[in-house]
Amino acid sequence: MKKIFSFIGSPLKKNSNTRTLTEMMLDELEKMDENIDCEILTAGQVEIKHCQGCWSCMKRGICPQDEKDDMGLLKKKMMGADFIIWGSPVYTMQVSGQMKTFLDRLSSWYHLLKMAGKTGMVVTTTANSGMEEVKDYLNMMLCATGVEVITDMGAYGTFPKTLIDPESARKEAYSKAAEVYPYISGEKTAETNPDLEVCFQVMKNKVTYGAKWLPFEHDYWKEKGMLELDSFDELLEKIR
Ligand SMILES: Cc1cc2nc3c(=O)[nH]c(=O)nc-3n(C[C@H](O)[C@H](O)[C@H](O)COP(=O)(O)O)c2cc1C
Repeated sequence: MKKIFSFIGSPLKKNSNTRTLTEMMLDELEKMDENIDCEILTAGQVEIKHCQGCWSCMKRGICPQDEKDDMGLLKKKMMGADFIIWGSPVYTMQVSGQMKTFLDRLSSWYHLLKMAGKTGMVVTTTANSGMEEVKDYLNMMLCATGVEVITDMGAYGTFPKTLIDPESARKEAYSKAAEVYPYISGEKTAETNPDLEVCFQVMKNKVTYGAKWLPFEHDYWKEKGMLELDSFDELLEKIR
């Protein structure tokens, strides 16, 4: 059973346009293959407190906030999934504040390439502007966790539960379902790309020279045998 986990940074629940667009794609994937287990949670369905800026995640590998809200659960769900979807509405030309808080709370994951070996995609909806900005930003951050970002998807929406052109949104969702299905069925697996290679080199350098200040991150790379590797491609080889 392949698992797809989607987090949508909308304060809405079932009425989120971004969730609706994502659901259109997931419904199609479930029709294509009954061995797919899909879950979507929006920011409106969970509690995510702000990062307190204590650096504990990077120094000790523990976020004190994880005990007080749902972020620990979301982390578990992402680690247990094969394919990751991050979505956000456009709010004032960028991701929503809720999405930014979620991303802040994953700060150490970017240093650890925590989700290396997984594939994923990003989703957004907007009334008009900001679609490319949000796609680019979510793409960059998901890639920074080590995920190979296969594609992105977008549609136009206004008020809650109001996609402007549901039929063209559905068309986009169905074509994206066909595009990502090979990665979910296992026909295709995560591969490296220039962005993932840059993340690997930057973070290897950071954890090597930052060992004194952020010991947890250095130890994580060491224990996983990542410090001995020269590329993200080698990391994928090791994970396989
Ligand atoms: C606070 C707020 C800010 C928004 N900012 C923009 C914007 O900058 N540009 C735009 O075209 N639409 C903007 N929108 C419209 C949303 O992007 C659009 O309604 C989206 O489909 C909402 O997604 P959701 O239903 O998943 O939350 C904004 C909506 C809200 C509530």
